[in-house]
Amino acid sequence: MCGIVGYIGNRDCTDVLIDALSKLEYRGYDSAGIAVFEKGTIKVEKCKGKLENLTNLMKIEGRPSGNCGIGHTRWATHGEPSDINSHPHGNKRVSIVHNGIIENYRELKEFLSKEGYAFESETDTEVVAKLLDYYYNNDPIDTIIKVLADIEGAYSLGIIFRDFPEHIYAVRKDSPLIVGLGEDENFIASDVPAILKYTRNYYLLNQDEICDITRTDVKICNVRRQTVKKEVQTANWDIDAAEKNGYEHFMLKEIHEQPSAVKMTVSPRIKNGLPDLSETGLTPEKLSAYNHIFIVACGTAMHAGMVGKYVIEKLARVGVTVDIASEFRYRDPLICENDLLVVISQSGETADTKAALELGKERGADTLAVVNVVGSSIAREADMVLYTNAGPEISVASTKAYSVQIAAMYLFAFELALVKEKISEDECREYVQALSDVPDLIEKTLETKELCQMAASKLLSSNSLLYIGRGLDYALSMEGSLKLKEISYIHSESYAAGELKHGTISLIEDQMPVIAVVTQKELLDKTVNNIKEVKSRHAMVVLVMSESVKIEDGVADFIIPIPETKEVLMPCIAAVPLQLIAYYTSVLKGNDVDQPRNLAKSVTVE
Ligand code: AGP
Repeated sequence: MCGIVGYIGNRDCTDVLIDALSKLEYRGYDSAGIAVFEKGTIKVEKCKGKLENLTNLMKIEGRPSGNCGIGHTRWATHGEPSDINSHPHGNKRVSIVHNGIIENYRELKEFLSKEGYAFESETDTEVVAKLLDYYYNNDPIDTIIKVLADIEGAYSLGIIFRDFPEHIYAVRKDSPLIVGLGEDENFIASDVPAILKYTRNYYLLNQDEICDITRTDVKICNVRRQTVKKEVQTANWDIDAAEKNGYEHFMLKEIHEQPSAVKMTVSPRIKNGLPDLSETGLTPEKLSAYNHIFIVACGTAMHAGMVGKYVIEKLARVGVTVDIASEFRYRDPLICENDLLVVISQSGETADTKAALELGKERGADTLAVVNVVGSSIAREADMVLYTNAGPEISVASTKAYSVQIAAMYLFAFELALVKEKISEDECREYVQALSDVPDLIEKTLETKELCQMAASKLLSSNSLLYIGRGLDYALSMEGSLKLKEISYIHSESYAAGELKHGTISLIEDQMPVIAVVTQKELLDKTVNNIKEVKSRHAMVVLVMSESVKIEDGVADFIIPIPETKEVLMPCIAAVPLQLIAYYTSVLKGNDVDQPRNLAKSVTVE
């Protein structure tokens, strides 16, 4: 969602802000703006649309010239995307950028209106700007503390005051913010890619920590004005990881990074041929004590949880409930001590997943976070963390994050099955070996690229299509369908193949595409029967199937054969063509692949 940046140093601030904001474009946004100190005044430039619009606007209005300022990309929540609703907000005395939602903005607006303040925008953020002005007493930290006492909700804020042109102030609660540490220059940003060109060192801010940043110093305190000491974090990936490196889109690059990403997730967790998750704190004693496992996540991460459920139940014979995080938090789930809550999140900042984690903790369950972004809120709040080590994922459509999440689920399932004595050590070694071989198979599966492109070309004229599969293939179909929807804007649904006859098959009409996934041989005949049912109603069937599967001629219109491994591991392989089909459909439709409309990479509001 919204991206925040700030810079103070010797460089041209406008250049740095625009460059840093461009590195946050992946988060999704619909307007952009900056506020820069120029000759003692705060100069603001902002407008609806992409950063290009902002740079074009500055060509007309003049670009602010200075060495200190803040910038923002806005993903609209309160008020449509428009020039006036764009950030920064404020007046001549104070200017702010905000990520998050101020929940009590209506009552604050009413109060401030009575105090004589007039509001220009429909945003919740403007309330914070006006409140800062209201409390302003020539002591920025004291002013901020007073405002924090009044506002409720989630926020990270970058603030500048006209009277303090050598300072940026920042604070966060439930929305991410880091402070980048350079030489004679410092930064604030929503995420590491924004600052990587300038520095790899940064501070992670905790809840309600307030920073006073100058070019040579960063002072951090809490709301009681007590000094907070921080450990410097160092980003362990370089700038190339956040660049396209010759690929047309980040999504394609990230699809190709899956072999190495899976390797990075799996290899460090194998000791003597067996899974070893001890680094997370998951001891055999703990594992053997869990009665039930809840897996909670959103979107693609939830689909990875679905794969986890099948595999854990099959191998470890422990009951697993998978929940959508936004439902879990409001359904009064039967989670308690002796249960394990696994939350899965690429960003580690997803608001619903974070709330689910908090609920699980409140109920006394142990919590394990499967997270990609190091030091993210979810990683910090969970009892145990399993980092997926995939490096930055920039494309909104998640691909490598999905693969590493399911790889983490396999490691967990293997270890649990071993501890629960549902598989022998030898069997466990075989599973681990097969998982270690998966990266090579993904590499091979990438060779289906052209076939996937051809399959994609057959979907272009459709308004709607179905994905079907059984068991693990159904879990995977859910992800295939989501991927296609989010970047191609073609409606699709995933169905358990056996469920079609109970209503959905009435949708099938001449040449409607049905993408079927068949990798589970035990279910082969049954799924093939379901495919025949749609085929005989003139559906156009694209079949993604294990290469050794033999099916009669005429069952499918188009077949994408994929390499094989143990059946439980097939989602790692079969995910690739489904991602590629979605990717090429989006490309062929001329869509914005990496930043699909209306979507944000990390959903930090409810
Ligand atoms: C997937 O392509 C989407 N971008 C989305 O479903 C995503 O997986 C979901 O919002 C969860 O995000 P998280 O993994 O960062 O928590």
